[in-house]
Order: sequence, then C-alpha cells, then structure tokens
Amino acid sequence: MSNHIDSMALMNRRKKVMGDHTPMFYDRPLHLVKGNDVWVVDAQGKYYLDVYNNVPHVGHCHPQVVDAICSQVSTLNLHTRYLHDNIVTYLEKLTSTFDASLDMAMLTCTGSEANELALRMARHVTGKQGIIVTDCAYHGNTEAVAELGTAFMNEAKSTRRVKSIPIPDIYWGHDKLSEDQLCDYYVHAVQSAIDEFEEEQIGFAGMLVCPDFANEGLLNLPRGFMNRAMSLVKQRGGLYIADEVQAGFGRSGHHWWAHQQFSITPDIVTMGKPMGNGHPIGGIVASGDLINPFSKSAMYFNTFGGNPVSCAAGMAVLQVIENQQLMSNAISTGQYVKKGLQALQTKHDAIGEVRDLGMFFGVELVQEGRPATQLARKVINQMRENGVLISTIGKTRSILKLRPAMTFQPRHGDILFEALDESLRQAGGY
Ligand SMILES: Cc1ncc(COP(=O)(O)O)c(C=O)c1O
Repeated sequence: MSNHIDSMALMNRRKKVMGDHTPMFYDRPLHLVKGNDVWVVDAQGKYYLDVYNNVPHVGHCHPQVVDAICSQVSTLNLHTRYLHDNIVTYLEKLTSTFDASLDMAMLTCTGSEANELALRMARHVTGKQGIIVTDCAYHGNTEAVAELGTAFMNEAKSTRRVKSIPIPDIYWGHDKLSEDQLCDYYVHAVQSAIDEFEEEQIGFAGMLVCPDFANEGLLNLPRGFMNRAMSLVKQRGGLYIADEVQAGFGRSGHHWWAHQQFSITPDIVTMGKPMGNGHPIGGIVASGDLINPFSKSAMYFNTFGGNPVSCAAGMAVLQVIENQQLMSNAISTGQYVKKGLQALQTKHDAIGEVRDLGMFFGVELVQEGRPATQLARKVINQMRENGVLISTIGKTRSILKLRPAMTFQPRHGDILFEALDESLRQAGGY
C-alpha cells in the first residue's frame, strides 16, 4: 500500500517537472524498479513479462553487457578523436555483418541522430532535398527527422522536402486489386512522388523506410514491392536509406539486418535502440565512397557517439547474440509464438491477422470489418493488469505490437498466450 502511495506521489512530482504531455504507457502508469532477462518488476514487487521492449535486446541487465560497461567505464571514457582499440574493433565486427559494399560506419548516441546524419549525407551527395517516407512514419525527434514523422509530428505537415506514399499494405490495401496490382499501385506512388519533387525543383535525394515497416504495423508487403521500389529510387538518382532502428540486430532470425531479406542493398543503414542493450549508442553504416567525401566536407563529430564505453556495450551485444545463438532462437521461438497466436485467432474473431518476422509480431485487431482501435487500447491495459507488457502500432493503433528480447523462450510464449486469451475476453474481443 505504501509503495502504491509512493508511486502516486512520484507521478504527481513527475507531472510538476515533466508536464502533462510527456508520453507514458498505459492508463494506469507503471512504476518499474528492476529488470532481469524478459522480466521487469514494479514498485510493489509484481513481476511483468516484457513482450514489448526491444532495447534490452539480449535481455534486461544482461551480465555480460553490464560487465563490459562497468569494466570500461572504470578504465577510460573519452571520444572518437583519440585512437582506441574498442572503437575500431567494434566497427570491424559490426560492418562484418553487412554486405561487403557497406564497409564503413559513423557512430551517434540515438536513432534520431543516425537518421539526421543519413539525411545530411543523402542531401549532400545528391545535391537534392526531397525524401520519400510512408504516411505512417516515425524516424525520430530532431528537427529534420521530425519532418519525416507523418505519424505524429507537426513538422511533417508543413515541410516541402518530404512526401509520403500510402503504406504498402496488403491487409487493408484495396478490395478490388490483386496483389500484383497493389504492388503496381504502391510503386507508382513512389514514382509520382519523385516526379513531383522534380517538378517542384526540390529534387529527389532518397527514400527512407524501415524494411520491416515496424511502426506501420509490421506489414505483409505486396510481393516484389521493396525490390521494385528501391530499384526505381536508385535509377532516379536517390539513395535507399534503411532505418533498422527497430528491425536490426538479428531480430528476424534469418538475417542480421531486415533489409537483407530483399535483393537490393541500401546505400545507408541507420541503427540504434538495441545496439547497446539500453546504453545509448546508434549509428550509420554505408560505403566508404559515401562516407569519405561527406566526412571530408562536413567534419562530423559527436562528443558521446561511439565512445569506448558505448563500443564495449555494443561489442558485448554482438557477442551475446552469437554466443547464445539468439538468431536461431528468434526463428524457433518465433515460430512457436506465431503458432500460439494463430491458435488464439481461431478462438477470437477480433484477431484479423497474425504477422511475424522472427522475434517480432503484429496482431491486427478488427471489429465489424474495421480496425479495432478502442479494443486494442483496452487489451494492452488489460494485459498490463494481467502481468504482460505489450503495446499498439499502426495508423489506427489497432495492431498489437509484440517485440520481446531475443532471449524469449516458448515457456514465456505460454504465459503470453494465456494472458492474451484472458485479456481479449475481458476487453470484449471474442
Ligand atoms: C524506426 C525508428 N527510427 C528511429 C527512431 C528514433 O530513435 P531514438 O528514439 O533513439 O532517437 C525510432 C524510435 O522509436 C524508431 O522507431
């Protein structure tokens, strides 16, 4: 009880110093105090299964990552203007997970900074300004990146430098069109946006998308869309920028990077969130042909980006993914979770579709033939009460987003299925 009162008092103090509009999850705020692997614990000592947070990619407080950070922070922490083995060794290891043409990297502290840097580079190399995104995009919080944020950001409404295409979605796509026709329709939207940029003398610098279309709802794309759209982008002189802030670091299980499921290699890949398992590190990977001329003229330096402590954390994450074989776990446990969710779909009419990409799942909720936004909100709040953390995504926020740590196991899946079954019933989603 006293802990409960402490949480309420903390909430009031938070409002005073952070205001009413700083985003928070759940109708009833969750006051967390510790975490371990796929579990987090609240101030009352209640355990929650974390099926949402991808930042603790190899599990909350993984001992190898914690040790790597502690050991380096108690030895030396400066920045990339000094020669340091951690930085070079980490980047050699990181770039080895990419196509050979993507052989150099630059480090930042966040995914937003990584996307900002990618935009600067694309505009620098092409001499053009126009960037294409989807109409449900979120790529971060800096001023230039906010212009890309068609899902949430005011800047996106007034900019002339960004155009959006409809999300390439089969599920709600268009009743009367076949999959091939849908693909033509979305590729045509890319072509029209490029034409418009040119007519408006803004010029076309590139297209920036998450290859998993994670914020858009983990879409099932019309077959061939990415290869056709990105070939077109390159033909028309633009850069293909893959935002792997959510999708990367082996989450699909089959590839290190989500773009590797398609045959077109991006010009720039941006990353962040899981990179340091919670320690702030982000970055871009591209070819030396792009990075060298840009760095020569832009003199990019980031005081904290890629410091030896961050690189120690980043290296530990890559080692844990390999040593604990977390990519094969993403495939096997991912399949188990997918099947369990599909079994729930047979019981609950409200589950319209189950989507999966390794250890990443989207559950589309539908009622009366429409996206079930209110139901999704009720379900995630009910799940929280039932001890499992998930959230929503998509244009109408009617898709349940499940994106646990890569260490998630079938036994955790069983807890998830029981809670979701119960929560759907409690929320009225038979
Ligand atoms: C796809 C994507 N890109 C970029 C970002 C921004 O990353 P950060 O919050 O580290 O700046 C996010 C954050 O949610 C994201 O989902």
